[in-house]
Amino acid sequence: MTADDIAALYASRGDLAYDGEGITQWQHAWQCGELAREAGATPALQLAAWLHDLGHLMTGLDGTPTLQGHDDRHESLAARVLEPLFGTAVAAPVALHVLAKRYLVSTQPRYRDRLSPDSVRSLALQGGTMDDAACGAFARQAFADDAVRLRVWDDTGKRSDWQPVVDASARLRKLMDAVAAAEGGRR
Ligand SMILES: [Fe+2]
Ligand SMILES: [Fe+2]
Repeated sequence: MTADDIAALYASRGDLAYDGEGITQWQHAWQCGELAREAGATPALQLAAWLHDLGHLMTGLDGTPTLQGHDDRHESLAARVLEPLFGTAVAAPVALHVLAKRYLVSTQPRYRDRLSPDSVRSLALQGGTMDDAACGAFARQAFADDAVRLRVWDDTGKRSDWQPVVDASARLRKLMDAVAAAEGGRR
């Protein structure tokens, strides 16, 4: 996949439902990117926030896949596409965003209360809570901190009353080009 393919995928399938929460994948992607930008995240982490659920669009499951007992492994799907285009600073937080939820549920008792019903449902499918050793192993990984930050935006970026700005797709495009250029310069 290329940046053009990603843009085309959001254009054609961005209106897929996100969870069972009355928002679309495009709305969720934009809200997460916006929350990351407002928090002063690096361009790479902003892009990770925008594209963390790209895997859901790649599999194209509408509605609430977790109701059917289905875990689409969307985090790995997306990370494989993002790594060659934008580098590890984008791909790793995306790859870890599901594990970050399991980590937060395991280490912060009140975190579970903030999760949406679908997110609680998918938690079981994704492996549930983690023991101390698994939490320690997660926290030691590179980009674990970024994954936890992304996770919090992920949980917050589910507002049905918050619509993407008109030039949202142009902003995503610009961000993709900037991060790809910076990553290209590093190689
Ligand atoms: Fe996700
Ligand atoms: Fe998400």
